Amino acid sequence: MIIGLIGFGKVSKTLFNLIRSENITFITSKEGRSAETIEDIENSGITILETFRDVANKSDILISATSPKSALDVAKTYGRYAKGIYLDLNNISPDTTFEIDKCVDNLVDGAIIGKIDSNNPVLYVSGKKADELLFLSEFLQTNKISDDVGDVAILKMLRSVYTKSVSALLIESSQIAQKYGLEDEFFEVLSITEGEDFKEKSISRITNTLNNSKRKSEELEEIIDYFDDSDLTMVKAALKKLNR
Ligand SMILES: NC(=O)c1ccc[n+]([C@@H]2O[C@H](COP(=O)([O-])OP(=O)(O)OC[C@H]3O[C@@H](n4cnc5c(N)ncnc54)[C@H](OP(=O)(O)O)[C@@H]3O)[C@@H](O)[C@H]2O)c1
Repeated sequence: MIIGLIGFGKVSKTLFNLIRSENITFITSKEGRSAETIEDIENSGITILETFRDVANKSDILISATSPKSALDVAKTYGRYAKGIYLDLNNISPDTTFEIDKCVDNLVDGAIIGKIDSNNPVLYVSGKKADELLFLSEFLQTNKISDDVGDVAILKMLRSVYTKSVSALLIESSQIAQKYGLEDEFFEVLSITEGEDFKEKSISRITNTLNNSKRKSEELEEIIDYFDDSDLTMVKAALKKLNR
């Protein structure tokens, strides 16, 4: 089996390292890539083809893991050459997923949940051909959601509704605790019900949110746009908080 990679960043490198089998060959291309990506490709030992069109042509499974902004363009450019499964792992909205579905024959909508550099990220997939990816469970936990492309993208957004709103609440409550000189005690009392690693996880979540507040705000705006007929009181408050 041949797995083609468009994009050779954190996601693709993780998959390349996790999915090790003598029956699977990974291919990619250096075509148009940055010096950093080319160096990573050359150091990895992956099979390198001249163009991404060749990669798409030869792959039984073609994985797109580039960036949310380029996902649709990549699908429009190379999707038509993919005869096997086209697995999109970009962090894109359900609307973009449906657009991509129009340009490729066998789209599977995918998401990697959990830290990408952990040993146990989980892959979620949906689409008519999703069953054909379940063999990947041999290498990383792979769960099928449904036969419907877009379901994984919706779940990804719902996950963001929760995590981003909670992060905004954590920022607010810990800042008040700090003002009263009770930050350690605040995390300690919460750890009793929320679990021993609550403080560590919360601080990582707060730091990540504050360091990426512009991107997180944009993602919240996208959520508000997509679920515009739902009650989004908490999401809107989180957005207001992040914009401060
Ligand atoms: N990192 C995570 O934890 C995570 C988790 C789930 C989903 N995702 C999603 O997965 C995707 C990839 O994430 P990542 O963290 O692996 O990104 P990354 O580390 O920034 O790597 C992106 C890779 O894609 C390449 N690329 C960009 N545009 C391309 C194009 N038009 N054609 C071919 N290659 C292209 C980049 O090459 P250049 O260096 O040449 O630009 C780079 O090798 C994103 O959409 C992200 O939202 C990421």
